[in-house]
Amino acid sequence: MDALELLEYRGYDSAGIALRDEESGKTEVRKCAGRVSDLRAICMSEKVVSQCGIGHTRWATHGGVNDCNAHPHQVGKVTLVHNGIIENYRELIADYDLADTLKSETDSEVVAALLNRFYEGNPGEAIKKTVSKLKGTFALVILFEDQKDVIYSTRNVSPIVATICKEGAMLASDLTALCRFTNRYFVVPEYHILKLSADKLTLTDFDGNEVLPKYLTVDWELNSAGKNGYPFYMEKEIMEQPEAIENTIKNRIVGGMPDFTADGVPDTLFTECEHICIVACGTAMHAGLVAQALVKSILHMHIEVQMASEFMYSDPVIDEKTLVIAVSQSGETIDTLEAVKYAKNRGAKCLAIINVKGSSIARESDYVLYTNAGPEIAVASTKAYTTQLAVFYLIVARMAHSRGVFDDAQTQSFVRELQRTPEVMKKVLERRRDIHVVAKKVLGAKDLFMIGRGLDYSILLEGSLKLKEVSYIHSEAYASGELKHGPIALITQDTPVVATVTQEKLMSKELSNIKEVKSRGADVVVFIKESIVGDLAKEYEIFTLPDMQDEFMVLPASVALQLLAYYVSSDKGFDVDKPRNLAKVVTVE
Ligand code: F6R
Repeated sequence: MDALELLEYRGYDSAGIALRDEESGKTEVRKCAGRVSDLRAICMSEKVVSQCGIGHTRWATHGGVNDCNAHPHQVGKVTLVHNGIIENYRELIADYDLADTLKSETDSEVVAALLNRFYEGNPGEAIKKTVSKLKGTFALVILFEDQKDVIYSTRNVSPIVATICKEGAMLASDLTALCRFTNRYFVVPEYHILKLSADKLTLTDFDGNEVLPKYLTVDWELNSAGKNGYPFYMEKEIMEQPEAIENTIKNRIVGGMPDFTADGVPDTLFTECEHICIVACGTAMHAGLVAQALVKSILHMHIEVQMASEFMYSDPVIDEKTLVIAVSQSGETIDTLEAVKYAKNRGAKCLAIINVKGSSIARESDYVLYTNAGPEIAVASTKAYTTQLAVFYLIVARMAHSRGVFDDAQTQSFVRELQRTPEVMKKVLERRRDIHVVAKKVLGAKDLFMIGRGLDYSILLEGSLKLKEVSYIHSEAYASGELKHGPIALITQDTPVVATVTQEKLMSKELSNIKEVKSRGADVVVFIKESIVGDLAKEYEIFTLPDMQDEFMVLPASVALQLLAYYVSSDKGFDVDKPRNLAKVVTVE
């Protein structure tokens, strides 16, 4: 139950558990719409003694959020939980005449029904036959009523990790759930069958050959997945950023130069490419937008950032001369994973920037740079984003050096500025109470605009996403100069505006745009670089950001905007870590 709670960030609209009752030998299911805490309450009042069970937290795709659609699903001798989407579930219902056996509206229950149909005492055969009929993505975990204390599992695309340790054999969709038991785990290969009993774990391929699991070691601290005294993971993770950045960059700077030797990333990757394409979703894509601006201004190279979900359908111009950089915290976002596969098929080289070790995108890519941010549990991404930025700064520096754009001295000076980041971020964090005060100014807003130019606009896209996802305020980031081409019609005294001013060369234009919204009645909050603040505090609500060179200002500014979103959400009394309708890891297209 504790482990399930740790996995709630993958989906938290329903929860369920199935346990094999020691006394009756029957598989008991408890499930409900709601959180794991609701499930826990049910289980406390209806106890089962068991040493073998499966559990699930759901993010609804097929079928609404109700008790019946919650997993596990039980059909005849089969009890099952499923992640992923079975695309041909309607055809399967028709082909195998399953409609009368089904109670829920889910695609998952169809798999349970099919397994039950094919099960004749041999779990492996039933699994293989069932899987051969499925189209889509799936991680399946199965109990067969007459297979005492044994769990079976198989998968396609959707992840499963497993381990065996002194507490027993266990599997999960993410190693966050296993961390407290062991730091050794392996990724279950696709189209294999994993069989777990308390003291044994067997992996076989679909031809019945036993396969030795390839164990990996996770170096995250076992307690780093806890809240450490903070009320929410989001606050804890915001506060961890100086250390996280340190962990991202420290082993990648040798003699003052960026160095990816230990990561096995060769310079030829940077020198042989003619253009760069970044693919990612959400916050990770926003990190890509910052990189795009840096690459253009420093390397003068052709670079584009593509939403991974649109990538394949937009006829991307990708070939052997393209360096594709996939960015993902989880390494499991299916759109990004599919984009990587597509790009590789077109001959592109793929470099991934990933937080979770051994994840699917990491495995699929040619090269990986891990962000080393440690587990990120809050649904709203914070430290993953800033560590992704840190990796991009290193890439840009290394690339500029290897392509002869920067000499040694320029490269070292760029890297030195990056090394200041943890100290600069600490200064923002120390003044977080001031941001809390600023947050009160936008607390009551229904709609809000965030405006900025150049790199400021990129940061605000992220700041705006953060605010809307955790505070439910409708927030739009707009390039300041574009505002007057339409959206300024929405500015009233009820529409606060948040502006960032960190780019000295754009400052005067930016200040004019801020004036334009102020003169239309908007309350304006300005996050501004300390050295250029002047006497603006007389006119506006100001938060000053500690100075860095302009191209690095996104780092302190991001922390400030994360805190803004956090305080608005917590002041409104929301469940900051689990905003409605969201899941941390999006494994469906
Ligand atoms: C927002 C957020 C999402 C993720 C996106 C991609 O706070 O976290 O927008 O950035 O779902 O997830 P990853 O990085 O795991 O691929």
